[in-house]
Amino acid sequence: MKTISILGASGYAGGEILRILINHPGVKIKQVTSRQFAGQSVSLVHPNLRKLTDLIFIHPDQLESCDVLFVALPNGASMDLMTGLSKKAKKIIDLGADFRLHKSHVFESWYKKKHTSPDLLNKFVYGIAELHRKEIAKSSFIACAGCEATVSILALYPLVKHHLIEPNIIIDAKMSSSQAGIKPTFSSHHPERAGSVRSYMPTGHRHTAEIIQELSPFIKNISVAISATALDMVRGLLVTIHTVPKKNITEKDVWKAYRSEYEDEQFIRIVKELQGIYRYPEPKLLQGTNFCDIGFEMDTKTNRLVVIAAIDNLVKGTAGQAVQALNIILGIPEKTGLEFPGLHPI
Ligand SMILES: NC(=O)c1ccc[n+]([C@@H]2O[C@H](COP(=O)([O-])OP(=O)(O)OC[C@H]3O[C@@H](n4cnc5c(N)ncnc54)[C@H](OP(=O)(O)O)[C@@H]3O)[C@@H](O)[C@H]2O)c1
Repeated sequence: MKTISILGASGYAGGEILRILINHPGVKIKQVTSRQFAGQSVSLVHPNLRKLTDLIFIHPDQLESCDVLFVALPNGASMDLMTGLSKKAKKIIDLGADFRLHKSHVFESWYKKKHTSPDLLNKFVYGIAELHRKEIAKSSFIACAGCEATVSILALYPLVKHHLIEPNIIIDAKMSSSQAGIKPTFSSHHPERAGSVRSYMPTGHRHTAEIIQELSPFIKNISVAISATALDMVRGLLVTIHTVPKKNITEKDVWKAYRSEYEDEQFIRIVKELQGIYRYPEPKLLQGTNFCDIGFEMDTKTNRLVVIAAIDNLVKGTAGQAVQALNIILGIPEKTGLEFPGLHPI
C-alpha cells in the first residue's frame, strides 16, 4: 500500500482529496497539514468526515517522506517550497497554479509575480488525464489544471483537434463561492455574497493562459476571451462557450468529434437530450462527482456552435482530477475512489 500526505489539508481542495481517499483501496493517508489547526482533529474542519477518520493535522514543518504528496496550497505558495518538497516524495501532485504553465514569462504576465522556481517548470506535466494520460504515468511532477481551464479545455479539445471551429472563442463562466477557497474575504462575507450575480472577471481571467497552452498545438492563432460571473452557489462551474464553426460543419461532425475523443472516457458525458428538464449540463447534478458533462447546439441563423459544459470545481476541477492522476501513477483503474454517481434530487 502506497502512502500519501496532503499539504494544505484544511482547505477546500485538500478536504476533498481527504474525502475521496479516505476509503481508497490503493493508498494509506499518512499525514495531513494545517498551520492553524495543527494538533486538532481533521473532522473539526471537515465535519463530513466525522467517525470516518481519526487523523490529526500536523504542522507543515513535521512533514515526513511519503510515496505521493498532494500540494493543495493557495496559488503562489508552492513554487517557493517545491525544491524542498521534492525531497519528501517520489511523486508530487500540485493542485495550484504555480507549475501549470510551461513558461515562466507566461506565468509572470498573468499572475503578476516572479516565478521563483522556473527551472522546475519543465518537469511538470499538465494534469488533465484525458489529454496527458501517458505523460502523467511517467512523470514525478503533476500540475493539476485550474477549474475553469479544466471544463473549458475538455469542452473544446475535440473541436480544435478535429478542426471544426475558428480560433476566436468566447467563454462565459458561471462560478461558485468555493472556488475562492476557505479563507473569508469582504467579498465572500454572507451579506455581500448571498443572492448575488456578480460580474467577477469580465476580462483577463488567468485560466486563459492554460487554455491557450493546451489547445494551441491543435489550432493556429487561437484567441480565448473569458468572462466570469460569480453566482450564489457553493459548488459547481458552468461554461457556455461561443464558437464559430468552420464552413459546412454540421451537428453530425460535432457528435463524431466528441465520440471519437471521449467514447471511452469514463468521466466525460455528452449531454444533449431532446426532452425533459435536464437537456444540457447542469453543475447541480454533478456535486461530489468527477464527471464533466458537455452539451452543444448549433445555431445556423447566427453561425455559432454553442458548447455548454459543467463540473464540480472541487472534484473534476481539482481534487478528483488529482486522484485520477494518482490512480494513473499507481497503475490501477482510473475510476478508483471516484465512482460516486451524484445525487438527485439535490
Ligand atoms: N477551490 C477550488 O475550487 C479550486 C479549484 C481548482 C484548483 N484549486 C487550487 O487548489 C489550491 C488550493 O485551493 P483551496 O481552494 O483549497 O484553498 P484554501 O481553501 O484556501 O486552502 C489552502 C490551504 O493551504 C494552507 N496554507 C496556506 N498557505 C500555506 C503555506 N504557506 N504553507 C503551508 N500551508 C499553507 C491553508 O491552511 P493553514 O493556513 O491552516 O496552513 C489551507 O489548508 C489552489 O492553489 C487553487 O488554485 C482550487
